[in-house]
Amino acid sequence: MRVLASVLVLTCTALLCCAQSFASPTCPEEQEAKQRPPEDPSQCDALELVVRSPRSLPLNDYETALNEYVGLNCHRRLEKGWKVDKRVRDTGPSIGTYQAGTWTGKYFGTHQPVLVWYSPEMYAWLKANRPADGTLPTTPEPVPDGAMIIKEMYTAPAAACAGIDWERLKPTKNGIAAMIRDRLGAYDGWFWASIGWTGWKADWPTAPGNPLPFSGFGQYCLNCHASAADNHTFSALKNINRRTARLSEPELLPRSVLAEQAPRHRPSSREECGAGRRAALRSSFHQALLEPQRSPAAQSGGRNAVGDL
Ligand code: HEC
Repeated sequence: MRVLASVLVLTCTALLCCAQSFASPTCPEEQEAKQRPPEDPSQCDALELVVRSPRSLPLNDYETALNEYVGLNCHRRLEKGWKVDKRVRDTGPSIGTYQAGTWTGKYFGTHQPVLVWYSPEMYAWLKANRPADGTLPTTPEPVPDGAMIIKEMYTAPAAACAGIDWERLKPTKNGIAAMIRDRLGAYDGWFWASIGWTGWKADWPTAPGNPLPFSGFGQYCLNCHASAADNHTFSALKNINRRTARLSEPELLPRSVLAEQAPRHRPSSREECGAGRRAALRSSFHQALLEPQRSPAAQSGGRNAVGDL
């Protein structure tokens, strides 16, 4: 009887631990509920007719429709042919510095760490015009109208949210940068948008002081995107296809920096349960923190190391 009681207590403790819900200490965008599109496709289908054509509505109405579309996760419809990057990845180096016994981290990405989604036309264009074997056509086709690239952005560095399935992530803090193709809208052929964070509001008509708009045709985004090889996009199949080699992902150092900055480490419900917990143990924070302290180089002063490149 006593054995049975102990088993029950243990089971209940385990269930309670797994029922708790909070974001992991390093990834504030981790969600308890699955972030999938609605079961009934009609809402996304109706919005999609609008969002594929940025010229179809006045700017504030269009921005609002696009924000609603991504808020409902309509761009995550894999069953409709949407494709997604292999994982959340950095868009530049993340440098960890160990000095006087303390780690600090600095992120140098062009965007926050990204998880990019590609509409079926965009993916078809990539396969035809930027094939994985590197045989580029001499004149790339223009990206077709209605193609969409939806870039979710997460806490830096990418290691902060590493290992969490996209279904449990929502870019509530940094939002989404999106490109929607509409060749008659502007000379460069894209509508540029910055949307999707908690508290987002349409920025048209402009606020007093005339700040930089979040979204529109011919946006400042082109300062950088104009330097892409063609069609103003840096998209590449190697970020999407699971068959191509994984990029190297040295994530211990950035994670250890983050662990040091998070004073009360409360493992998330996912870390506590099953695979998440095993993965967390494998890449133990403590191991990463102790290694540099043991190294003589680390004790003789400051030490730089490059994390995700
Ligand atoms: C400081 C330069 C810079 C600015 C400004 C910039 N981008 Fe980017 N963007 C990049 C680079 C570089 C990449 C590729 C990142 C990677 O994959 O590592 C990128 C990637 C993207 C992608 C994924 C598709 C692609 O082309 O790789 C989208 C979507 C995007 N940016 C949207 C925007 C929008 C919308 C804005 C303006 C609100 C913007 N960007 C401003 C540099 C910039």
